[in-house]
Amino acid sequence: MAQADIALIGLAVMGQNLILNMNDHGFVRRCRDLKAKGILFVGSGVSGGEEGARYGPSLMPGGNKEAWPHIKTIFQGIAAKVGTGEPCCDWVGDEGAGHFVKMVHNGIEYGDMQLICEAYHLMKDVLGMAQDEMAQAFEDWNKTELDSFLIEITANILKFQDTDGKHLLPKIRDSAGQKGTGKWTAISALEYGVPVTLIGEAVFARCLSSLKDERIQASKKLKGPQKFQFDGDKKSFLEDIRKALYASKIISYAQGFMLLRQAATEFGWTLNYGGIALMWRGGCIIRSVFLGKIKDAFDRNPELQNLLLDDFFKSAVENCQAQRDYFGAHTYELLAKPGQFIHTNWTGHGGTVSSSSYNA
Ligand SMILES: *[C@@H]1O[C@H](CO)[C@@H](O)[C@H](O)[C@H]1NC(C)=O
Ligand SMILES: *[C@@H]1O[C@H](CO)[C@@H](O)[C@H](O)[C@H]1NC(C)=O
Repeated sequence: MAQADIALIGLAVMGQNLILNMNDHGFVRRCRDLKAKGILFVGSGVSGGEEGARYGPSLMPGGNKEAWPHIKTIFQGIAAKVGTGEPCCDWVGDEGAGHFVKMVHNGIEYGDMQLICEAYHLMKDVLGMAQDEMAQAFEDWNKTELDSFLIEITANILKFQDTDGKHLLPKIRDSAGQKGTGKWTAISALEYGVPVTLIGEAVFARCLSSLKDERIQASKKLKGPQKFQFDGDKKSFLEDIRKALYASKIISYAQGFMLLRQAATEFGWTLNYGGIALMWRGGCIIRSVFLGKIKDAFDRNPELQNLLLDDFFKSAVENCQAQRDYFGAHTYELLAKPGQFIHTNWTGHGGTVSSSSYNA
């Protein structure tokens, strides 16, 4: 064959559906059947929404690798670019690897959004912050390790005013929809026995939010806790929340990459984890400066078993846990003493009471 025939599908959702049936009649069969006919089949994950469609998305192609040299220039040409023009697109792996990676991307997106929601909840209901104050906090956080698309748009959403001059956000029903990609990530995690707990919880949180009528009914019968009156140091508690969000984000991504690693084992894929982090670095919804750090970690050690074992992330998480304990007495667990939650008298004027022994 002088010039390969290449079949492309750009529908991420279609590919993700196939993934779940991959063993019997999905992507594997298509790749093989089409190869026998001289057609190189490629399925590509695409992320970036309408902005990505216009200015360059993140592309995650997988399938028959022989197709890659033929499409590489086109794919990398239209993909988003980061840093010194590095494209957010590379070959992911055999068969449905591209769509699996896109699915995990979406799962991680669910997790990131849930973390932001919980931070917002603490700002609003514990610290009693006004909407513009919260917008300012997210704008400030966008200048830290949390610099990312989702933090940025959260600031913008909080600021956004309706035509009547009032904030739009409080007018929106607190009931989230979902299209299923987070659920598929959680199903895969259960299927392969990987503890992707944070994404799983994020999916359940959306399910819970969508039970709006039931929640309204329940709120009339069940009292719930009294509104909490915070009288501590607001500024340091806010920094506490930021650090907790950062630590949780590290955990979530570590879990996501654990799932990718297990899927690679199950399907015999060779995945380039640093390349995946770079593909997500720009163009897509979870794009962030943070993903550059993940890329660096896999550059330092392509065989890295778990993100938390990389020196950078190890100290980042340690720092955040220490910070959480320093400010909020949320305690931490020593590696040497699992199961014991410890609070240290860091400042010399701290108490012995840890936050888990009273309920805020
Ligand atoms: C967030 O940070 C990026 C640069 O890292 C910047 O382009 C963007 O305008 C910032 N967004 C907000 C809302 O401050
Ligand atoms: C915390 O440390 C300071 C200085 O070492 C000490 O005076 C204080 O008693 C400690 N507080 C508690 C509750 O142990």
